[in-house]
Amino acid sequence: MSAKKPLNIGLIGCGFMGRAHSNAHAKVSHFFHNLAYKPVLKAICDVDETKAKAFADAWGYESVETDWRQLIARTDIDAIDICAPNNAHHDIAIEAANAGKIILCEKPLAMNVSEGKEMVQAVEQTGVANMVWYNYRRVPAVTLAKNIINEGKLGRIFHYRTMFLQDFTIAEDLPQGGPGLWRLDASVAGSGVTGDLLAHNIDTAMWLNGPITEVSAMTETFVKERKHVETGKKQPVGIDDASLFLARFANGSLATFEATRYARGHKALYTLEINGEHASIFWDLHDLHRLGYFDHRDESVVRGWRSIHVTDHDQPYMDKWWVPGLQIGYEHSFVHQMADFLRGLETGKPASPTFADALETQRVCEAVLESAKTRQWTPTGL
Ligand SMILES: NC(=O)c1ccc[n+]([C@@H]2O[C@H](COP(=O)([O-])OP(=O)(O)OC[C@H]3O[C@@H](n4cnc5c(N)ncnc54)[C@H](O)[C@@H]3O)[C@@H](O)[C@H]2O)c1
Repeated sequence: MSAKKPLNIGLIGCGFMGRAHSNAHAKVSHFFHNLAYKPVLKAICDVDETKAKAFADAWGYESVETDWRQLIARTDIDAIDICAPNNAHHDIAIEAANAGKIILCEKPLAMNVSEGKEMVQAVEQTGVANMVWYNYRRVPAVTLAKNIINEGKLGRIFHYRTMFLQDFTIAEDLPQGGPGLWRLDASVAGSGVTGDLLAHNIDTAMWLNGPITEVSAMTETFVKERKHVETGKKQPVGIDDASLFLARFANGSLATFEATRYARGHKALYTLEINGEHASIFWDLHDLHRLGYFDHRDESVVRGWRSIHVTDHDQPYMDKWWVPGLQIGYEHSFVHQMADFLRGLETGKPASPTFADALETQRVCEAVLESAKTRQWTPTGL
């Protein structure tokens, strides 16, 4: 018998993130041995019952629900993991908090700041443990970047440059809405690439370099009307297809952010570069186990960009995996986040980002959309 405490998971939404999280829940105890809690795949919930049953079968969930309210009402569920589209996060999270459940929620936290504030209030009033899945923080190379910055190796930071490029919505006859293309429907997604892609860049940026205080943005919707899957009719497109903004951080550094789904040839090109007084850092999701590092203090004859292969046991999380030299991938960022969350439950020191942290990202997203509309520099309130 395992001495670990079971943490019964009820996961809502068995799509892309449902798979990534189920994998993390199933794997975390195998690789992180000294955690007090062990996730148990207790129930999967999806509006599509056939899909949910097949998912339960594939991943070993003990039971299936089709109504998230019934899932939350169950006394055998400890934690609700929200992997449903953005317009479902608010209501599920508030009901789960009121039922005293631990809540893990996908990003973006909410459709907008006003919903996000209510969600933060609900978890703070009820005192339930909470976290939002901004998973890129837990890619070992990105965590290493954070450690390098915290050690002061970069010195004063001047620039932060980041983008997230995709190309899957260029076709004009691609419809909007429905189970596959809810990201193109503003009433479900809240926004376009600002909340879907840039939210990741913003979360990582503020984690690495502190608060963003003001933004100046432009957005564009390149295809103005698309057939809606549910109505079969052409309807205006309400999302931003591309979003670019300039930003100032509280520490005085300047930034550029860019995201689009119209960059032909790019599938998920998330990159970031930080330039400091002594050193610079570069990271690219397509090569996620490497960290680029340039240190001006190196002897001049050997000075140059290093490509650090982040696989050594003294690099973040890597002692839990294979031998040095063997790399890990995308899915491991979720395993790491779950491990940190479980450790936080054990120690009472919550893993970040919490709902309150994710609300700050939501504030920046909202300021970006506001700035694009008004064509004015816009404070984020941070
Ligand atoms: N952290 C990341 O990198 C990352 C990546 C992708 C998506 N996401 C976020 O995860 C969430 C889900 O995205 P996805 O790509 O997995 O979507 P998806 O379309 O692949 O899956 C969503 C699932 O939720 C189900 N669903 C919809 N409404 C529901 C409801 N009311 N109750 C129960 N089930 C419902 C759908 O049937 C579908 O199976 C979104 O908030 C998205 O922004 C985060």
